[in-house]
Amino acid sequence: MAADLIVRNIGTLWTPKTAKSPARGKEMTEVLEIKNAFLAVKDGVILDMGEGDGASHVGESTIVHDAQGDLVTPGLVDSHTHVVHYGSREYEFEKKMRGVPYLKILEEGGGILSSVRATREATPEELYRQSKQSLDTMLRHGVTTVEGKSGYGLDMETELKQLRVQKTLDADHPVDIVPTFLGAHALPGDFKNDRMSFLERVVDMMGTVREEGLAEFVDIFCEKNVFDVEESRYILSEAKKRGFGLKIHADEIEPLGGVELACELGAASADHLMVITDEGIAALKDSDTVANVLPSTSFYLGSDYAPVRKMLQEGVALAVSSDYNPGSSPSENFLFTLNIAAIHLKMSPQEILNASTRNAAHSVKRADRIGVLEKDMAADFVIYDAQNFPYVLYHFAINHVRDVFKNGRLVVHNKQCVWEDTT
Ligand code: NIG
Ligand code: FE
Repeated sequence: MAADLIVRNIGTLWTPKTAKSPARGKEMTEVLEIKNAFLAVKDGVILDMGEGDGASHVGESTIVHDAQGDLVTPGLVDSHTHVVHYGSREYEFEKKMRGVPYLKILEEGGGILSSVRATREATPEELYRQSKQSLDTMLRHGVTTVEGKSGYGLDMETELKQLRVQKTLDADHPVDIVPTFLGAHALPGDFKNDRMSFLERVVDMMGTVREEGLAEFVDIFCEKNVFDVEESRYILSEAKKRGFGLKIHADEIEPLGGVELACELGAASADHLMVITDEGIAALKDSDTVANVLPSTSFYLGSDYAPVRKMLQEGVALAVSSDYNPGSSPSENFLFTLNIAAIHLKMSPQEILNASTRNAAHSVKRADRIGVLEKDMAADFVIYDAQNFPYVLYHFAINHVRDVFKNGRLVVHNKQCVWEDTT
């Protein structure tokens, strides 16, 4: 059958073997490698792939794209970000460099709460503009799907503003955004003595978020001096009743039992896990909850790295994400996150590919379409200025992505976003 697009002269095609289930144990170390390969695309999905030049799929109107003998992988899935927010926090960065801890800055009304003030004041147009620029940067680094959280409003008006801007961007921008409601990201100062009313307010917001179809997941920051396990149980159980998928920020600074709660409630993922306990690992191992680790945050905060070798050895399903946000991970360069995963988490290239495509797709419940290159899956893929994936991890902090295709459409060409030229 004639394809709409053929990518030929692929030196190495690297993809997880399947996305039917999250990879664990030995599967994490396995990828499908095809040398001298082609990819054929029809109607935005993969029609065929394999060795050779795919000549039998070339018709009169087929576009032929040359991969120049280089590497192709599935589009990367960054499954934990706070992409829609306003402003930046460089002045707190200086404070942090002088040794003031992350939670101390938050306690003093800064941190997340300073981004909340900026986001409350921003117009939807300003929010749109800043977030669009971030999405373009992510796309140029090979990311074709992101998860994006609210949580810089903490009131109905601003949470809805963030989620609506995100929904518009999802429609306008080639990067797909999986939306998460994180109303319980921090306790606003005016609720200091009335925590329960704030939590009830978050539940109330959930109703509107659901009605407007603004989020698929609900998340909470379960941390010492933020929200405890019982508060997390309340929010996540209310979310579950309303049909949301669940996520949790847990075991980032102190292990409170948030991971065990996530597994008990059947959360799609438990995220951070820098200080996860053996009990937490045991709970994950026996559950369908994906362990989503965020090594850029450890790098940036100078804190512990999640004990990934131990988790992998136990057979936990593991994903890696950037946590892009203005406080603890201000960088949209997902390839740099993957460099850190290699260097500090000691993950192999095969493990990193599975974690940033297949398992990440599972953690946002999109594995029926993305996370692997195979017939009938979305034609989301990346062509690198590199011949193999180990090179991309080794030659660090550089953008090795040359071209990106989203649903079979060329959206980054020679390192530049070109998607607006063709809409
Ligand atoms: O995942 N830990 C909580 N939330 C974000 C940080 C948000 C911020 O500092 O603005 C995180 O690291
Ligand atoms: Fe986060």
